Amino acid sequence: MRVLVTDKMSEWTALYIASKINDYSDNNKNFVLGLPTGETPLKMYKELIKLHKKGRVSFENVVTFNMDEYVGIPKDHPQSYYTFMHKNFFRHIDIPDENINILNGDAMDIMKECEEYEEKIKKYGGIDLFIGGIGANGHIAFNEPGSSLDSRTRLITLTEETLKANSRFFDNDVSKVPKKALTVGVGTILNSKEVLIMAKGEKKALALKQVIEGDINNMWTVTAIQVHKKAIIVCDEASTIEL
Ligand code: GLP
Repeated sequence: MRVLVTDKMSEWTALYIASKINDYSDNNKNFVLGLPTGETPLKMYKELIKLHKKGRVSFENVVTFNMDEYVGIPKDHPQSYYTFMHKNFFRHIDIPDENINILNGDAMDIMKECEEYEEKIKKYGGIDLFIGGIGANGHIAFNEPGSSLDSRTRLITLTEETLKANSRFFDNDVSKVPKKALTVGVGTILNSKEVLIMAKGEKKALALKQVIEGDINNMWTVTAIQVHKKAIIVCDEASTIEL
């Protein structure tokens, strides 16, 4: 596992993603990118859009899979991850609509939705590069403490801590935050060919300490990336205060 501490984490990550897409040489296959939501990757998406506008990267042959989505709000809800991704990224780039995959938290058959997501990832030959964030409680995607490190895409109940943390997007009202979500599993993430985790700010310091200095354990699910052959953590100075 590599760790990069930089105050230019968004610029660096955007350039890294663009170079991976540009270097990709398997012409018979799309480049498959796993994507996160949250405050941390926002600037990285802006940087990628800038690179795209300058003609330095095209997403025409990129297929994306988002990590997670709330259950119980429609996809056009202002705080759905579907809305987040389209508003902050997809509508500004040249990715074909059919290449975008986001779990449908409103699906009639949730089990089927999750199984089909896993199948689709397999159909594309797996994820080439998975970009993720970290929750303050060490969750990766929405794999809350206690999730199995072999877990696959599934329905999860969010912890009080996550509801509180994410209430900032719901008028600071915890009762408005959906209590459940769909998430890719830790196992799904570990199966990616490469994993890049972004951590920003002091509130991620404890989680960063766990993933860098702690044991692999399912109370801090992000620690699972320690076993990955090609994992990199890109973080800012503030998030390293506990190291
Ligand atoms: C949510 C998402 C995670 C994300 C985390 C951190 O809980 N489900 O995938 O990594 O938030 O978000 P932020 O970057 O806003 O701190």
